Amino acid sequence: MNNNFKKNIIFQKYEITRIKRERKHGYKSKVIWFTGLSGSGKSTISNILEKILFKNNINTYVLDGDNIRSGLCSDLTFSFVDRNENIRRISEVAKLMLDANIMVLISVISPYKKQRLMASNILGKDNFVEVFIDTPLSICEKRDSKGLYKKSRCNKILNFTGIHSLYEAPEQPDIYLDGTISIKENIKKLIKKLYENNIIFFPYTHKLFEYKNKII
Ligand code: ADX
Repeated sequence: MNNNFKKNIIFQKYEITRIKRERKHGYKSKVIWFTGLSGSGKSTISNILEKILFKNNINTYVLDGDNIRSGLCSDLTFSFVDRNENIRRISEVAKLMLDANIMVLISVISPYKKQRLMASNILGKDNFVEVFIDTPLSICEKRDSKGLYKKSRCNKILNFTGIHSLYEAPEQPDIYLDGTISIKENIKKLIKKLYENNIIFFPYTHKLFEYKNKII
């Protein structure tokens, strides 16, 4: 492709910046990126975390693989190339949301290490928190809440992650959650880690984060 047209794109700077929005709302925006197999608990945990953040007056949005694939990425398959494009688009949307001072929760399989590195590079390492929900395939397959593992075992779905397609687990995620323990325990651990790493924290107002009516 001829990239000549790109030289005519001039980035426009606006006066209301991310830092101004962060100061106004009192907290810094981050991307909390959940990776794991289908059925590992990404959406369940994102949903609960979003409710907790929402209660603390933090603006949030969840970018969920299935939902994004119903609109923005509805033209993409599950081939290697298309999965990369899926992650690239999600990362670029999340980058805009960071600028809008939204705490972005991302719930996508994102099976390849290189994809997650690309996401971290697009977003900036400081903005990107990788959370690995480590639920073994046997458990995900047993849950099979969408019936997709069954379909993939009968070859009615091809390229299914964990069955015919690889999932590369993160070696050093920022936060590790053991998907075999209860959701409640995992939420507690997640909140603790997010707090310890200054991710849920109100640096401009010194307001404290509240969880289960307890101040952290
Ligand atoms: S990713 O691999 O590109 O990161 P993404 O998270 O967007 O995947 O979408 C995964 C969701 O699509 C799964 O939760 C599942 O419901 C559905 N799905 C349909 N086909 C496949 C497939 N071949 N592999 C994995 N998930 C699939």
